[in-house]
Amino acid sequence: MRKVRVGLLGCGLVGTGVVEVLAETSERWAALGVEIALSRIAVRDLNRPRSPLVRREWLTANWREVSAAGDVDVVLEAMGGVEPAFEAVRTALAHGKTVITANKELLAAHGVALRAVARGHGAVLLNEATVLGGVPVIHLLDTYFKINRIRALRGIVNGTCNHVLTRMDETGCSLEEALSEAKAKGYAEPDPTYDLSGWDARAKLKILIEHTLGIAVPVDRIPCTGIAHVSPLDIAAVRALGGKLRLVAEARTAEGGALMAGVGPQVVFPGDPLYAVDGVDNALMVSAAALKRALGAAGFATAVYPLAVPAAGLPAVRSEPTRVSTM
Ligand SMILES: NC(=O)c1ccc[n+]([C@@H]2O[C@H](COP(=O)([O-])OP(=O)(O)OC[C@H]3O[C@@H](n4cnc5c(N)ncnc54)[C@H](OP(=O)(O)O)[C@@H]3O)[C@@H](O)[C@H]2O)c1
Repeated sequence: MRKVRVGLLGCGLVGTGVVEVLAETSERWAALGVEIALSRIAVRDLNRPRSPLVRREWLTANWREVSAAGDVDVVLEAMGGVEPAFEAVRTALAHGKTVITANKELLAAHGVALRAVARGHGAVLLNEATVLGGVPVIHLLDTYFKINRIRALRGIVNGTCNHVLTRMDETGCSLEEALSEAKAKGYAEPDPTYDLSGWDARAKLKILIEHTLGIAVPVDRIPCTGIAHVSPLDIAAVRALGGKLRLVAEARTAEGGALMAGVGPQVVFPGDPLYAVDGVDNALMVSAAALKRALGAAGFATAVYPLAVPAAGLPAVRSEPTRVSTM
């Protein structure tokens, strides 16, 4: 049996979910000849009530006792935010550990630097959960799409905003009412600013641009408009046109290599694959050279539709994203 010694940074919503999934899947891992041994968890507050699956002796308030531990091979980062997550992940990579993170804010800010640390120390940095939830889109882009020259991305990558816009369209309610409902269902954070401002979608777009177009653009150079000011009148006007309002993230390379990218509300019409994406679902369209159209979908709360179409066949962009410079 191969033993993988795991340390966890953070034990909130995601971290607790990791503990539960590891407990639930231990027999399946064993069938594969792998024992996942979790023995260290860094948290902020040692006295906070935790899941009964979280053993008291695993907890530490010092993340270095996870990131630099000699008895940890793989570090799962689920602290969120940029600091101290950056230092904790950098330390783990500098110790040659594999790091798996769900933190899009961290990767959008420091992904390039962290990958350089990983390369320099023979470590591995994995970030599948940063984009499109449980759908392995990063793996798909890094492998299946790698030999194709990806020219454009377009998608709905924030479930909270999509749910709010869907409910406003379905019921005629205000943004505040749709948001209250989303919070009650656990689809929105108590402070939804990061989602409604479009910053969450922008961070995810930046990560997707790196994995597909190979361009490391600073996240704050990507133009971004959120949905915080969308009113029921806006939704009604869009509906009268036969469309739906959606927060769309997109990027493409123009002739000469310039990057066009942006996040903002767009009117999508029937015939546009994004028109069918409602509620907390996510979707991503990928346009690549030398690929015919292919459609795939996955269930659960998030879904990905990797559409590979010739670049010339891209749907018309209704609000053209502003040009940003290539790095
Ligand atoms: N929630 C989602 O649905 C979702 C989906 C995809 C990705 N993500 C990403 O996953 C990450 C975690 O999200 P979450 O919702 O699980 O956050 P959360 O519930 O706020 O949990 C954060 C955890 O990190 C711990 N922590 C914070 N600062 C710390 C410090 N200085 N030292 C040690 N521990 C510290 C907290 O400790 P205490 O428990 O003691 O407070 C808590 O356990 C974020 O990057 C988020 O963007 C979340």
